[in-house]
Amino acid sequence: MRISVIGCGYVGLVTGGCLAEVGHHVVCTDNDAARIAMLEAGRLPIYEPYLDMILAGSRNAGRLRFTGDVGEAVRAGEAIFICVGTPPLENGEADLSAIDNVARLIATEARVPTLVIEKSTVPAQTGQELKRVLAVYRRNLGVTFRVASNPEFLREGTGVEDFLNPDRIVVGVEDSATEHQLREIYRPVLEGRFRCPVHRPICPPTAPQLLVTTINSAELIKHASNSFLALKISYANAVADLCERLGANVEEVTRAMGLDPRIGQQFLRAGLGFGGFCLPKDVQAFIRLAERAGVDFGLLKEAEKVNKRRIDQFLDKVRRALWVLKDKQIAVLGLAFKPNTDDIRYAPAIEVIGRLLAEGAQVRACDPEAMEKTRKVFPQIGYDRDPYAVAPGADALLILTEWEEFRQLDWQRIRDTLARPLVLDARNLLDPEAMKKLGFEYHSIGRQDVAAGSATP
Ligand code: UDX
Repeated sequence: MRISVIGCGYVGLVTGGCLAEVGHHVVCTDNDAARIAMLEAGRLPIYEPYLDMILAGSRNAGRLRFTGDVGEAVRAGEAIFICVGTPPLENGEADLSAIDNVARLIATEARVPTLVIEKSTVPAQTGQELKRVLAVYRRNLGVTFRVASNPEFLREGTGVEDFLNPDRIVVGVEDSATEHQLREIYRPVLEGRFRCPVHRPICPPTAPQLLVTTINSAELIKHASNSFLALKISYANAVADLCERLGANVEEVTRAMGLDPRIGQQFLRAGLGFGGFCLPKDVQAFIRLAERAGVDFGLLKEAEKVNKRRIDQFLDKVRRALWVLKDKQIAVLGLAFKPNTDDIRYAPAIEVIGRLLAEGAQVRACDPEAMEKTRKVFPQIGYDRDPYAVAPGADALLILTEWEEFRQLDWQRIRDTLARPLVLDARNLLDPEAMKKLGFEYHSIGRQDVAAGSATP
């Protein structure tokens, strides 16, 4: 099928790349000319595992191209995926101006009947507005539009894998022709013919389900899913606070809880709270949407509150351990909002560093992928790709993102170069007993603090 993708961010590039990978002819466009130039030159504006391989393969096979001419892209597709950003407004609601702009462009540029698919995360009832805009701005009265909602459930860092081996595909449609067209688009994925070359720990290798719903339900499913994940994380974090007070270990507690299949292991990791460009904004947007609909979603407001407190609580720990922060040297491992991405949007690590700097601490940081982006936010701090190079002389080392690479470090070597063998692990990446044995004072989340030479509580 001939498919156009509007918006070349994480969602658009993964969607366009994977749809080309499974055999469709795809044109991707974006209104950021520099981004298109970069993509045309074979470079990626983001880091996402396997994406470079997939884009290059499809381009070489002649199934994928990029263009800065949105009109041309609109005319190239029988189906158009809208993958533009819906960032939060001041009041927390989703900013739908990019969707509105794209809808007007499609309406004026399309020359043949076209299926328009919302993939961006949007509040329920956006599809109805989209239909209205397409109808009223339509230039050629012979052109008709059908609208569908097909929310993405891609996680950054495993986006390609999630697209090719999804646990479900949701399509919100209003007629059987649209359902049929979407089934055709996803047929290779539904048949499981394209496995990503990575072990997928989360979902068993079962064939994905395609769920057909109304457009309103499809839109709501996305917000309801992300908000539920946020609730789970905040719940685990609140339990972690209790564990610290009552002498329990949150890892033991959540592990046992998760063995109940009704609860499940995923998204019960206590730590610095949820960040990134999806969960925080989707929770906010869902709260606002509920408010508009006359429903007080107090449960979600509380989850948001718990999440905001994570940073304060962690900084309190740092202050308790270091006393005065001014002029202290702090080594930071991890900047991205989670491992395997270079994304620092709403990253807890960025918030923590900002606060440390405000209190006069000096920071040297290492992250496998996110240093370049962080340098633009904090040009004044030190960076080194080598984790061993940020530790020497530091009064404390903070682990803010749980990259596997950091777990594997020679921690004895790190201890020997620190000014004080103090580690504050905001992600529970390391084992307290092992760290104690190595001679560290070690603080983590929802577990008891340990220090070399002291009795284990
Ligand atoms: C999320 C959804 O998971 C995905 O389905 C949707 O399409 C987009 O939004 P993503 O933003 O990539 O994906 O990140 P995710 O893996 O969900 O993690 C979000 C945040 O929660 C991260 O900051 C992560 O560190 C944190 N988290 C996650 C926890 O603190 N504990 C956990 O147990 C899991």
